[in-house]
Amino acid sequence: MHEHVLEFITARRSIRRFTGGPVSREKLEIVLQAAMAAPSANDRQPWRFLIITEKEKIVSLCKAHPYAGFGVDAGAVIILFGRKEGVKWFDQDMAAATQNLLLAVAHLGLGATWCGIDDSRQAKIQGLVNLPHDQYAFALIPIGIPAEEKAARTQYDEQKVHWERY
Ligand SMILES: Cc1cc2nc3c(=O)[nH]c(=O)nc-3n(C[C@H](O)[C@H](O)[C@H](O)COP(=O)(O)O)c2cc1C
Repeated sequence: MHEHVLEFITARRSIRRFTGGPVSREKLEIVLQAAMAAPSANDRQPWRFLIITEKEKIVSLCKAHPYAGFGVDAGAVIILFGRKEGVKWFDQDMAAATQNLLLAVAHLGLGATWCGIDDSRQAKIQGLVNLPHDQYAFALIPIGIPAEEKAARTQYDEQKVHWERY
């Protein structure tokens, strides 16, 4: 059993090369279900999702982000966003949803990479997709049919583990 859980989790890698093929609506809906299954402080679930499958928009979004240019051949881009103001655990909740989403992507045989969106990139990304300023764009995730393979690995490091005491 423990081998299966590690197999599942370590299969997720950041995939940055795509064939250009489409990603089905059915698979995107599964991925969204996985994201919304994430834990959330006080079960507040601040996450919202914008799904873009139009080629031109995918290209402009990926080019607008300094480290997402590789995503121009993705079949979809998902932007995780939400109202951040007054939501104490916003970042943690959003990160949990993002990771769930990425695990589902990998399990479905698709590829994706988490591209963070910080304060300095808000206006540009919000502007491109008409997000109001009170909706914080948390991550941009190009998703596509993988055109590269990466080995599963845990990066387990004993030095980072403190059993019982520091
Ligand atoms: C918060 C966050 C922001 C990231 N931003 C980017 C990004 O802008 N562009 C990118 O190519 N990868 C980005 N990554 C992916 C990391 O580079 C990647 O997860 C890391 O190198 C480990 O590789 P792996 O995902 O294959 O395990 C980001 C990851 C996280 C968690």
